[in-house]
Amino acid sequence: MGKLDGRVALITGGASGLGAEDARTLAREGAKVVITDIQEELGSKVASEIPGCTFLKHDVSSEAEWQAVIGKTVEMHGTIDILVNNAGLVRFGTIEDMSFADYKLQIDIMLDSTFLGCKYAIPHMSKNGNGSIVNMASIGGIKGISVIPAYAAAKGGIIAMTRSIAIHCREQGYRIRVNSIAPGGIVTPMTAQAVAELDADDPGLKQNVDHGMGQPSDIANMVLYLASDDGRHITGTNIVIDNGETIA
Ligand SMILES: NC(=O)c1ccc[n+]([C@@H]2O[C@H](COP(=O)([O-])OP(=O)(O)OC[C@H]3O[C@@H](n4cnc5c(N)ncnc54)[C@H](O)[C@@H]3O)[C@@H](O)[C@H]2O)c1
Repeated sequence: MGKLDGRVALITGGASGLGAEDARTLAREGAKVVITDIQEELGSKVASEIPGCTFLKHDVSSEAEWQAVIGKTVEMHGTIDILVNNAGLVRFGTIEDMSFADYKLQIDIMLDSTFLGCKYAIPHMSKNGNGSIVNMASIGGIKGISVIPAYAAAKGGIIAMTRSIAIHCREQGYRIRVNSIAPGGIVTPMTAQAVAELDADDPGLKQNVDHGMGQPSDIANMVLYLASDDGRHITGTNIVIDNGETIA
């Protein structure tokens, strides 16, 4: 018996890093997993290596594509029980040198997409009488890091929006739990990009490295906990997984 037997999970940004590891972990516990991403070739390859996993091409900043992906998932599997709003990207630059276009791109792809995913998944989950949404935030949404003002705004917004959505679900009597996770530095292509683009002594990067970089499984194990009945009494919270980076 797996912890997620019979459940259907949709994971955005599933072609790479944390999303791909979430997909492997949830599938191992019996979930039928749908991963979505803009990286078609890589997403199809990741899905082909996971039993019962399907890949759908999906730009999370598009409302029409969200409607299509949720519709297709329900058509394939009859329902949706778990949504992991994981897709993301980072553009580095301080408030003085980041363009407004780069600011808006990060808000679109992380904050707006989380709004859309929750908006279109909740009506299906409320019909089921069961659901768990996990929104991927970051410690960048909690502490100040000079080179990521837009990323920080998106992630801080996700933490705040998660609480409001969780309370809405409880007020409506839906059995849908909504939580966010705020990782510190985890070894993925996104942090490889940070290492390549930032000075080694950049304070944000240095603090990540000094606290010891985590592995994707450190996050996927918490996604599993929140998605499964193990997390049945947890909603509206933000779980920090950063080896203590934000406490000192
Ligand atoms: N790795 C870390 O240290 C870390 C720390 C905190 C938070 N996070 C968050 O975790 C999530 C996953 O990050 P990761 O480290 O695995 O990075 P990653 O770059 O390996 O994966 C991100 C995925 O999102 C996809 N994506 C980007 N734009 C998209 C779009 N418009 N539509 C659909 N998919 C899109 C990318 O193609 C990629 O496959 C992100 O939200 C990131 O902000 C990561």
